[in-house]
Amino acid sequence: MRNNTLSECYKLFAVRTQTSVQNGRRNYSSSSQEPKPFKEVPGLSSLPIIGSAHHFLPKIGSIGPNLNAFDLMDTLHKRFGPIVKMKGVFGRADMVFLFEPEYVEQVFRAQEANPIRPGLKSLEYFRENTQKSTADGLYGLTTVQGEKWREFRSKVNPALLKLKLVKVYAPGLDEVSKDAVNRLKRLKDDQAYLEKNFNLEMTRWSLESVALMALGSRIGCLDDTFTEDHPGRKLMQFTKDMVDTALELELLAGIWKYFAIPTFKKMMNTYQTQWDICATYIEKAKKKINERGYDIPDEEKSIVERLLAIDERVAVIMATEMLAAGIDTVSFTATTLLYHLATHPDKQEKLRQEIRSDNPHKRYLRACLKESLRLRVVVPSNLRRTDRDHVVGGYHIPKGVDVVSPNEYLSRLEKYYPKANEFIPERWLTDKSDPIYYGNAPQMITLPFGFGIRSCIGRRISELEIETFMKRLFDEFKVTWEGPPINIVNKMLVTYAEPFYFKFENAK
Ligand code: HEM
Repeated sequence: MRNNTLSECYKLFAVRTQTSVQNGRRNYSSSSQEPKPFKEVPGLSSLPIIGSAHHFLPKIGSIGPNLNAFDLMDTLHKRFGPIVKMKGVFGRADMVFLFEPEYVEQVFRAQEANPIRPGLKSLEYFRENTQKSTADGLYGLTTVQGEKWREFRSKVNPALLKLKLVKVYAPGLDEVSKDAVNRLKRLKDDQAYLEKNFNLEMTRWSLESVALMALGSRIGCLDDTFTEDHPGRKLMQFTKDMVDTALELELLAGIWKYFAIPTFKKMMNTYQTQWDICATYIEKAKKKINERGYDIPDEEKSIVERLLAIDERVAVIMATEMLAAGIDTVSFTATTLLYHLATHPDKQEKLRQEIRSDNPHKRYLRACLKESLRLRVVVPSNLRRTDRDHVVGGYHIPKGVDVVSPNEYLSRLEKYYPKANEFIPERWLTDKSDPIYYGNAPQMITLPFGFGIRSCIGRRISELEIETFMKRLFDEFKVTWEGPPINIVNKMLVTYAEPFYFKFENAK
């Protein structure tokens, strides 16, 4: 079986590499069909147990601790060429970074039927141990693979993807956006507050928006009475804890499985709190649906009603997943778009005119979002763990390796997008004859929501949330950025740090 797969790979490799591939400083020739062994893939040197971690140490490391995700990719690409290996740390899988779109395509497409993307080990542990009886064989989307994943995804796909999202949620999301914009109206002159708390304000809006869909009701995050004991605060704290502790808990998985270290204990409690809050809201939503006493047309049913029709546990697990994956991602993406438009007043004015026009198709708004997602993404790379051997770029990549496609980095290379680092929404609206036309870049490069059947299930939801909010916001305000460039912090997800120099004035 394995030999068959390998020989298929060799054939594919032979066809694909009739020409030599030049990139960075290396030149790989296809003259030989015999792949070079995995150990010869260029990359950072490694030590036993700690893998390549010493390269990231301050002062003595060849890379150091401070490179952001983009600069790290740039360094690896320029130093080692189109395929780069990084040895796994503390028993984790080895990683291979692919800087050629055709290599990415080769691996991601081959994995299409069985897309493996390892999830957080601590959440996996929580679902499979602490919650064994509650979840009873259902583990959601983000932490499971293979048949378990496929079964759950095919259950929930219709509920999230096959509904008239705009019809069911546009009015509700518009109400949320109005409330968020009204808060900004009240806060806009308190520059000191906004400089420090803009992220919090955006998170309150994104949580309120996703909760409407995941929990089936508004939860009050935009109310003035959003006190410390509000369940919304706990849900926000949950995502913060998850992002903050992810790296430590991943690296120390070999230890906390046997000794419950404090960070692990804290995270188990946090997972439980998030579950309990979701279960309470889903119970309330169920009661409300039952009290309605009559059925409604399928197309008017909410996501929660559709999920409840499958199984209450499915509704709760999906709510926990939507709240884990749909708060910080959306607020980051909206902040990024706001930043790009605040720093490009001409594009902002063009957008405002479109928003205020009678044309219901807001194509420029859509193009602005796409362009913003090309330039900066909350998940800058996509990843698949190989479930078989591959031959890529002349090297053997065995089963069990994490193959990384650095999408944001590739999307900002001049050879794929002319004026690659400029915010030009027009590239998504122009036609083939125009050199800036987005379609001239290879398909596998700009994938902010991932790839194939395992791509983001919340994509349409996020787009609707962000577009609804932007329509209200830019109709109301002229937004500028009055300071040095925004600060990026790289954690499990990319985030922004204060100060935020947005300035909001009434738009004419
Ligand atoms: C702009 C905001 C968002 C971005 C950029 C984003 C991006 C992504 C990416 C890159 C993946 C991995 C896909 C892959 O491996 O191919 C993913 C998975 C996922 N996202 Fe999103 N996401 C966003 C918002 C949301 C929202 C609002 C939800 C909630 C409904 C959500 C729920 C999920 C879930 C559950 C998965 C795992 C899917 C699976 O494994 O089957 N995301 N997202």
